[in-house]
Amino acid sequence: MGTDKQAIKERTERTEWFLQDRFGMFIHWGLYAIPARGEWVRSSEELSVEDYQPYFDEFDPTLYDPKAWAKAAKQAGMKYAVLTAKHHDGFCLFDSKLTDYKATNTKAGRDLVAEFLEAFRAEGLKVGLYYSLIDWHHEDYPAYGDRIHPMRHNEQYKRDPETFDRYLTYMHGQVRELLTNYGKLDIMWFDFSYEEMRSEKWKATELIAMMRSLQPHIIIDNRLEGSGEHGGSIYTSEPTVYAGDFASPEQIIPPGGVTDTSGNPIPWEACITLNNNWGYTAADRQYKSATTIIRKLVECVSKNGNLLLNVGPDAKGVIPKESLDILAEVGEWIALNGESIYGCQASALAKPDWGRYTSRDGKLYAHVFEESIGPVALVGLAGKVKRARLLADGSELIVNTPWSAREFKEDAFVSFARPEHFTHPLPDKRDTVIELELI
Ligand code: GLC
Repeated sequence: MGTDKQAIKERTERTEWFLQDRFGMFIHWGLYAIPARGEWVRSSEELSVEDYQPYFDEFDPTLYDPKAWAKAAKQAGMKYAVLTAKHHDGFCLFDSKLTDYKATNTKAGRDLVAEFLEAFRAEGLKVGLYYSLIDWHHEDYPAYGDRIHPMRHNEQYKRDPETFDRYLTYMHGQVRELLTNYGKLDIMWFDFSYEEMRSEKWKATELIAMMRSLQPHIIIDNRLEGSGEHGGSIYTSEPTVYAGDFASPEQIIPPGGVTDTSGNPIPWEACITLNNNWGYTAADRQYKSATTIIRKLVECVSKNGNLLLNVGPDAKGVIPKESLDILAEVGEWIALNGESIYGCQASALAKPDWGRYTSRDGKLYAHVFEESIGPVALVGLAGKVKRARLLADGSELIVNTPWSAREFKEDAFVSFARPEHFTHPLPDKRDTVIELELI
C-alpha cells in the first residue's frame, strides 16, 4: 500500500505540466498515407509485406516541413505534440539501427522523427512519440491466428511462439534508441494491448525500469496494459508499475471524467480525430467543426482531462487544409480565451444548462454555448459574484437580477446586453467565456 501511495505521488508530480497544458496535437503519419485508406489498411485489407512494399519504395514526402506543422500546432494553442515513430505496420520514421524498415532507407532518406522533434521544440512545445507495441512487419510477431494481424488467416504465417522473445528484444531495443538518441522526450505513447498481448507479455516491468532509468521524468500512457477499450490498473488505487501515468480514452470523452475505483481523479487525455481517421484518408471529408472542437476541449478540461487532437498528414507530408483551417479557428478562440483552459480544472458546481464551467486559482469560467432568454443564470451563485468580465475583451458584464427573475433567489444573473433587454445574443457563438470572481 505504502509503495502505491508513493507511486501515485510520483505520477502526480510527473504529470503536473501535462495537466496544465491540456491541449496537444497527435500526428499519425507513415507509409499508409499513400494508399490513404487509414493506418489499418494492411490489416483491414489483409495485405502481405510484399503487397505493402510498393508504398515503401514510393515514399517520398517532398513537402515535409515539420516547422510548418509546429507553427500550426502552436498557433492552435496546442502545448505538446505526439508523432507516430512507428505504427502497427512496423515502418519507422526514425533511423533505428535495428531494422532496415525505416524512413532513412526510403526516398525520404532522412530521420523524420529527429526533424519533428527539433521543429516542435523550437516552437517551445513539449514532445512525445507514439510507439506501436504491435508490429505487423516483424517476423517474430504472432501472425496467423492473431486477432488483427494482416496475415491472421494465412497458415503460412504460423509462427513459433518461442521466437517472440526476439521481437521483445527488438521492441525494447527500439524504445532504448528513442530514449537515448533524441534528447529529452516528454511523453511516450504506447499502443496497444489486447487479449494476452499485454503487461508482462511485453516484459513491461523490465521495459519501464529501463525507461525510467534513461528518462525518469517521461510520462507514459496506460497502453502497456490497456487500449481504448480497457484502461488497465491505472483505474484502481493499486496500479502496477507499468499502469502508466495517464489514461487514454479514445474517440470518447468519458461521461464523468476519469477517476479510479476509489473515486480519486486520475490524469487522462482523450485522443480524438478531426475526421473519422487517424492516418490520412483521402475520401474522408467528415470533419468536425471548430465550434465542436472548442466545446470538446472545454468539456475535457471541465472534467479534469486533456485533449489530444489528431491530424493525418498526406503522402507528401502536408496536413490537410481542412484540418489546418479548423486548427486556425480554434487558435483564434484560444488566443482570447486560453486563460479558461490552461491550468484549469473541473469546478465543484454542477454542469449548467447553457454550457460548462472550468476553474483556476479562485476564478470561475462560465463557458456559454447556448443563448438564453434574458440574462445567463448562474445557479446557486446569488450574492457570490464579485465581478464578471467577458474574458475575450475584459469588458464588464452586469450582474443584476431582472424583475422577471426575482423569484430565483438562489441564483445570480449575468447580462451580455443591457439588463432591461430580453435578447442577449452571444458575443461568440462558439463559446462565450465569462470570467467570474467569486466572493
Ligand atoms: C488505436 C488504433 C490506432 C491509433 C490509436 C490512437 O488503438 O489502433 O490506429 O493509432 O488508436 O489512439
